[in-house]
Amino acid sequence: MTHSERRGGGALACLAAALCAAASLGLAGAAQEGQAFAAQSLAAEPQAAEPQAAEPQRATGPDTRPLVPADTLPTPFVRAVSLGVEPLEEGFSASEEEFALGRRLFFDPILSGRRTVACASCHRPEFAFADNRQTSRGIEGYLTRRNAPSLFNKGLDTELLWDGRAATLEDQVLMPIENPEEMALGKAAAINRLSQEGGYPEAFKAVYGREVDEEALAHALSAFVRGLTVGDSPVDRFRDGDVASLSPEEEAGLWLYEGRGRCWECHNGPNFSDGQFHNTGVGAVDGVPEVGRFLVTEADEDRGAFRTPGLRMLEQTAPYMHDGSLATLEDVVQFYREGGTPNSHLSARIKPIRLSDQDASNLVAFLKALSRH
Ligand code: HEC
Ligand code: HEC
Repeated sequence: MTHSERRGGGALACLAAALCAAASLGLAGAAQEGQAFAAQSLAAEPQAAEPQAAEPQRATGPDTRPLVPADTLPTPFVRAVSLGVEPLEEGFSASEEEFALGRRLFFDPILSGRRTVACASCHRPEFAFADNRQTSRGIEGYLTRRNAPSLFNKGLDTELLWDGRAATLEDQVLMPIENPEEMALGKAAAINRLSQEGGYPEAFKAVYGREVDEEALAHALSAFVRGLTVGDSPVDRFRDGDVASLSPEEEAGLWLYEGRGRCWECHNGPNFSDGQFHNTGVGAVDGVPEVGRFLVTEADEDRGAFRTPGLRMLEQTAPYMHDGSLATLEDVVQFYREGGTPNSHLSARIKPIRLSDQDASNLVAFLKALSRH
């Protein structure tokens, strides 16, 4: 089987190209505005040690970008099999109609109380379905507690969300509809609206053979999210034997990633995540970690532990970490050089790493290669 057969004839590269084009065309203003916003909210609100317990925060002032971005994804949107993530696609079996229904719902503010916020408001296509803001604006300007992650390759994950509170994608996709600070509609009201409006009753009937219900809504949304896949980066091609696909700097970065940096100990597998939870110290204040995974397991060792994020498409998904506290990949590498943030439950695997400035820049080059296609 040739590469292009495995990649489904380059449809994925087409999606990535569309994202890159969106990012460079006219959206630069949005990115700058997002950074200014993040810097502002950082200065105004010191990070609470336990965000779940804190009062919800609201953004002040009008939003300066469209609340719901337009669906500019390629049409037809073909889900391609791509190098490096094959296991994901083997189990994926949504029809084109189901995928199209999920796609429409994803961009539709009908799922929010005041019809102002859609999934795509926080998971923006031009930022690899993440947000360029430190935290996102939900309904009526409420700020999310955490940084919105990219939705690429979510079909690979078993436990979702930064602390793993959702066991499956089907469970997760209805949560923002219920969340009073995100979409604030509620499942029953969502089903009610979709049973009456916008051609949805007919569309659900055509796909699922029945009226709109919670299960069908969860399936439609998760079918779309599962279809957002990305692979076939130069790193995948290098590992597949095409040694010319990485520059000398990127290749040196790969050896540091696997060698002295020990990044692979947690960032491994097709998505560069072990799917486990670790305390790196992000968000810890005066040696006290955030709640993290402890919220779910109530096991002491899980205090301040968050799920290892995947590392694909990082160039599009700044800022980084569960609280969006690190603005650049240089900052992230510096964070690891210093051995994370000390706290009572820091992972034993997080220790200062001896890297020269050239090593650090090679490691960043390697991470960026995971966003190239
Ligand atoms: C107001 C902003 C906002 C909206 C609207 C929103 N999300 Fe999210 N989403 C987030 C944030 C923030 C997180 C991370 C929350 C956490 O881990 O505690 C997240 C996490 C997720 C995850 C888990 C990702 C991972 O890596 O574990 C999925 C999947 C997801 N959202 C899908 C959706 C879908 C589908 C919708 C629409 C029904 C939606 N989101 C609406 C902000 C939003
Ligand atoms: C002990 C496991 C572990 C090791 C070792 C590790 N990481 Fe991480 N990494 C994590 C966890 C957990 C997070 C999320 C931390 C948080 O937000 O609380 C993370 C976050 C990141 C992020 C941010 C991604 C995003 O989308 O926000 C990057 C980039 C990253 N790590 C790169 C690296 C590099 C490079 C190395 C090696 C120098 C490394 N990691 C070593 C567990 C680890």
